[in-house]
Amino acid sequence: MAPSTKAHLFASLTAYLQDLQESGVDGIPLELMKPVISDTTPYAESAQKASGPSATTGQDIPPELHETVEQIRKSIGACQRCKLGATRKNLVFGTGNPKARLLFVGEGPGADEDAQGEPFVGDAGKILNRVIAAMELKREEVYICNVVKCRPPQNRPPESDEVSTCSPFLLRQIASVKPEVIVALGTSAAQALLQTKTPISKLRSKFHDFHGIPLMPTYHPSYLLRSGGNSDSFWSVWDDMTQVLQLLKLPVPEKTRKR
Ligand code: URA
Repeated sequence: MAPSTKAHLFASLTAYLQDLQESGVDGIPLELMKPVISDTTPYAESAQKASGPSATTGQDIPPELHETVEQIRKSIGACQRCKLGATRKNLVFGTGNPKARLLFVGEGPGADEDAQGEPFVGDAGKILNRVIAAMELKREEVYICNVVKCRPPQNRPPESDEVSTCSPFLLRQIASVKPEVIVALGTSAAQALLQTKTPISKLRSKFHDFHGIPLMPTYHPSYLLRSGGNSDSFWSVWDDMTQVLQLLKLPVPEKTRKR
């Protein structure tokens, strides 16, 4: 698909989702969104077919359709669109640079995030901070958000109705930030964005296409927390982040594994 066509599709999808929300539609079953948000073509393959660098970031939204992250946050309001609204303390919208080149998507807030209203501020957040620092980036330079904005009770994975209710907001956030690369942290984020049931171990280590934006699935920081700082999975994440840095044409810091 030509980059300009992709850009147009992306912009009209954004406008369509906004219209739906303004007219009171609070959720779209994921099945219905499949034709528009499902494209698991490995990025490397689609990039080969694409013609020129803009094809990788072909999501230039006409200025009149661009909405800021603040506007999106405002449109969510004191959300009670799904059952998570009843038990959350704080809605956790997202944080970071609204013009970030790199956007991380996690699963959903945990207890610390629910208490503070900011994503990835607990133990998993400390690991994510380490990953970001290892990339020689600052947390304020990237954008961080989640598939669902409210904490699932007992930190269970978000259910499909919760994901489909919250997904339009995530898509609008992504359309607003217009990152050059998305990193999906863990199973829930990767499966929700790529509309697949393929396990993260099979999705990771290669780019997938998300509306013209290369998306790298990788292990969730909580998984790294359980497996230890020098584990194979930690180094797998580093391999994935190396590819991200290379795509962003940023220096790849030298890391040597201690045995
Ligand atoms: N895990 C997530 O997926 N997101 C957070 O914000 C915190 C922990």
